[in-house]
Order: sequence, then C-alpha cells, then structure tokens
Amino acid sequence: MTGSQQLSWNRLVQQAEGLLCVSSNRISNAANLSALLFQELADISWVGFYFLYDKTLMLGPFQGKPACVSIPMGIGVCGTAAACGETMRVADVETFDGHIVCDAQARSEIVVPLFKRGELLGVLDVDSARLDRFSEEDEVGLKTLAQVYLSSIE
Ligand code: SME
Repeated sequence: MTGSQQLSWNRLVQQAEGLLCVSSNRISNAANLSALLFQELADISWVGFYFLYDKTLMLGPFQGKPACVSIPMGIGVCGTAAACGETMRVADVETFDGHIVCDAQARSEIVVPLFKRGELLGVLDVDSARLDRFSEEDEVGLKTLAQVYLSSIE
C-alpha cells in the first residue's frame, strides 16, 4: 500500500468519526456514511446498508441505483456474509454462485457484516463496475469504517 492510500483511508475514518458523532441513530448514520463513501471512494457504483429483520436482510440507506429490497440469509454475497459472519470480498461477481444482480454493471463487490455486542445488525455492501476493485487494504479500511459506524449507534 502506498503512503497516499493509507493517508486517504485515515482521512476517511476521521471524516466518518466527525460525521457520525452528532447522532446515535442507526438510520441517520447509515445514510450519512453511505453518502460519504459514495462521494469519496473511486469507481464505486453502489454503497449501502441492509438491516436484519426476522432472518431477512432489508434494504436500508444507500447511494446508487435502486436495489433489491430483501435478501434471505445465506443467499447472494450479502446473505452469505451475514450467515457466515465474515467479510466477503468478491473480485468477479460472475464467479460467485448465487450472486444477486441488482445492477448489471456490477463486476466486483465487498460486504462487511455488522455486529454490535455479538448481535448481527446487518451488512455494509459496496459494489463496483470494475473487476477486482477492492484490495485487502480496502477491506481493512471498510471494516474500520464499519466499526466507527457501530460505535456511533445506540
Ligand atoms: N449483489 C448483492 C445484492 C445487493 S446489491 O449488490 C445492492 C448480493 O449478491 O448479495
């Protein structure tokens, strides 16, 4: 990773901390974090949240084109990340069995599950129209931002 990339993730984390510290509402903060990420990350086609309701992930605040409203646990990249409790970083969505196509342009995707006090709240999902858009450093950065979000909410 170059120094400048490290710097930009650090700056983004600081921006997120400043943005999210004024509220502890999970919807408001998800909305503002989506907007910040959509504005700041290069080559992103969609970024947003799905929240867990009765074993189904329901669309939350996002930026980008309209998306699937509900995703069952264990289905698609989002449902798999939620069911496994692990971040899914998919370099080529066409090779992911069960990938849910919301935007035909999407080529790569990363999904971070959101746990607060051991409880799964939902996932943070980012899509790109570029193959293999998300690096290991991006994964670390997004996980850090997910923690900033989780610490900010009630
Ligand atoms: N592609 C996702 C669905 C959500 S959208 O990308 C916004 C998936 O396979 O879970």
